[in-house]
Amino acid sequence: MIREMIASDIPAIAAIEREAFGAHAWSQNLFIGELEDASKHYYVFDKDGMIAGYGGFAHILDEAHIMNIAVERTCRGHGIGKALLQELIGRAKDAGARAMTLEVRAQNFPAISLYEKAGFVYAGSRKDYYAKGEDALIYWLTL
Ligand SMILES: CC(C)(COP(=O)(O)OP(=O)(O)OC[C@H]1O[C@@H](n2cnc3c(N)ncnc32)[C@H](O)[C@@H]1OP(=O)(O)O)[C@@H](O)C(=O)NCCC(=O)NCCS
Repeated sequence: MIREMIASDIPAIAAIEREAFGAHAWSQNLFIGELEDASKHYYVFDKDGMIAGYGGFAHILDEAHIMNIAVERTCRGHGIGKALLQELIGRAKDAGARAMTLEVRAQNFPAISLYEKAGFVYAGSRKDYYAKGEDALIYWLTL
């Protein structure tokens, strides 16, 4: 089931984050700050008490910006990422956002495919956004 993220989820989330993003991973403290920020909305996929994935967005005026989405490695390929993304889209729409955007690494083909299948449309790139030679692709979805 998908539910709102709570502080006690953070150690498990930080572990998934480290495994997924390595040197770019967010710290536990950063997630604590995110949960305290009223403009941020984070959700977890809770699989019988185990955190299998998470994702969140920032709601600013009438736009929602996906902050992150990740699934624990052994749980990938079973629709969890898609379910989390649909949850974020639905929640953003319910909160009054009219469009949703995100950045994704140009080489991250699984994530790009996930977003394009959900209807996100490529809108440009930011060169060297993550690091030298690691461009970001920008996507938008009208809600
Ligand atoms: C991207 C990610 C969240 C997808 O989660 P997942 O639970 O494995 O994805 P799902 O099983 O829900 O698959 C949904 C769609 O994603 C795409 N996808 C997922 N894994 C894929 C892969 N290995 N190769 C290509 N496309 C893939 C497909 O379009 C898939 O649709 P399909 O099942 O109809 O083919 C997951 O791979 C992940 O956590 N990656 C590391 C973190 C990350 O890169 N996050 C995105 C940052 S922008």
